[in-house]
Amino acid sequence: MFRIAFTAILLTFFSVTVAEELNSEAAIEQRQTTFKAMKANVKIIEKALKAGASANRSTITESAEKIVTHSKNLSGTFIPGSYRGDTKAKKKIWKKWDDFSQRLQSLVVAARNLLEISKSGNAEELETAFEALTDQCSGCHRRYKQIF
Ligand code: HEC
Repeated sequence: MFRIAFTAILLTFFSVTVAEELNSEAAIEQRQTTFKAMKANVKIIEKALKAGASANRSTITESAEKIVTHSKNLSGTFIPGSYRGDTKAKKKIWKKWDDFSQRLQSLVVAARNLLEISKSGNAEELETAFEALTDQCSGCHRRYKQIF
């Protein structure tokens, strides 16, 4: 009896651990894919902005829309414990979760703002909104992303 109970406990323990690791791996992969896509869209906007006043607005709007979606998708991918594995996310994220999730929120706000400005703002406003967005990227990376 004791043995059966013990085995059952052990099995439960292992399956929970394996499930957590699988979830963690999937979450890490998902956020890295999302970040890469976000970077690609930032590059598209950067290139378009070089044209100044004659920048292609619809290209910028389209990419800004994608960044809004991506940034909203990120919050669910930083699941607890997912600093282990093939990731550059610092453990500190989960110790300073309030600050980190606030930053994710600010990223969404900055992306939405760029989206709005891309439809109605002038060239200077567009430049400012883009800089405000990329400031969010570098600010968070400096604190929460490992360099190597
Ligand atoms: C709230 C924090 C935060 C913000 C804001 C943020 N990032 Fe990141 N970024 C991270 C973390 C943490 C990682 C490491 C993820 C991992 O390896 O699991 C990362 C990784 C990346 C990577 C590497 C992905 C890979 O594995 O190749 C790219 C590219 C990237 N971010 C681009 C951006 C861009 C572009 C922005 C802004 C539009 C941005 N990030 C905003 C936290 C942030």
